[in-house]
Amino acid sequence: MIIRKAIMSDAAGIARVHVDTWLSTYRGIMPDEKLDSLNYDQCEKKWQRNIQNSFEGKEILLVAEEDEKIVGFCGGSENDDPLTKESYASDLRVLYILKEHQRKGIGKKLVSEYVSIIKELNYTSMIIWVLEDNSSKKFYEVLGGKIITEKDYEVCGKKLKCSGYGWEDLNDFM
Ligand SMILES: CC(C)(COP(=O)(O)OP(=O)(O)OC[C@H]1O[C@@H](n2cnc3c(N)ncnc32)[C@H](O)[C@@H]1OP(=O)(O)O)[C@@H](O)C(=O)NCCC(=O)NCCS
Repeated sequence: MIIRKAIMSDAAGIARVHVDTWLSTYRGIMPDEKLDSLNYDQCEKKWQRNIQNSFEGKEILLVAEEDEKIVGFCGGSENDDPLTKESYASDLRVLYILKEHQRKGIGKKLVSEYVSIIKELNYTSMIIWVLEDNSSKKFYEVLGGKIITEKDYEVCGKKLKCSGYGWEDLNDFM
């Protein structure tokens, strides 16, 4: 398994992981209307823009590749949330691993590489938002994250609670 920075030709593979992982993770948590509207082509266009942003240094975007196929990705940048950015300078905004590749250590490897890169960029703290009903909250606890705040996230008119996991000092990241 290889972890590397995303390149433009990864957009379709990232979109596939994004859509498939949303469907396998969020059915029953997010409104069906949102999940049923997901579309590989639209998602690919969005990821082309995000990959371009990463080339311009506006965000970091890493992929996990196995047998020349993208099986996971993560990304983020400077935290622009006014309520938390003072204490948590960077964020991890997306992290998705295909269901059949979960619990094999790929998520931990991706986030560890992401944290090394943001530390090199002189960020010392990080936040990630997780839906309260998502069982992957445990993953962030295992990595040393602590719930530091909560907020609502509105999707198709439904309010979903999110927990903000923070690392005030990235030296506490495991
Ligand atoms: C959450 C996610 C990124 C974790 O990546 P992963 O590759 O599956 O996790 P790892 O194998 O690196 O897990 C490391 C440890 O974290 C813990 N862990 C990971 N996922 C867990 C879960 N769902 N429940 C409980 N503990 C979990 C375990 O202790 C695990 O070690 P173990 O398997 O030896 O017990 C991945 O499962 C995923 O993409 N899930 C669906 C999408 C999602 O929820 N993304 C996060 C949105 S905020």
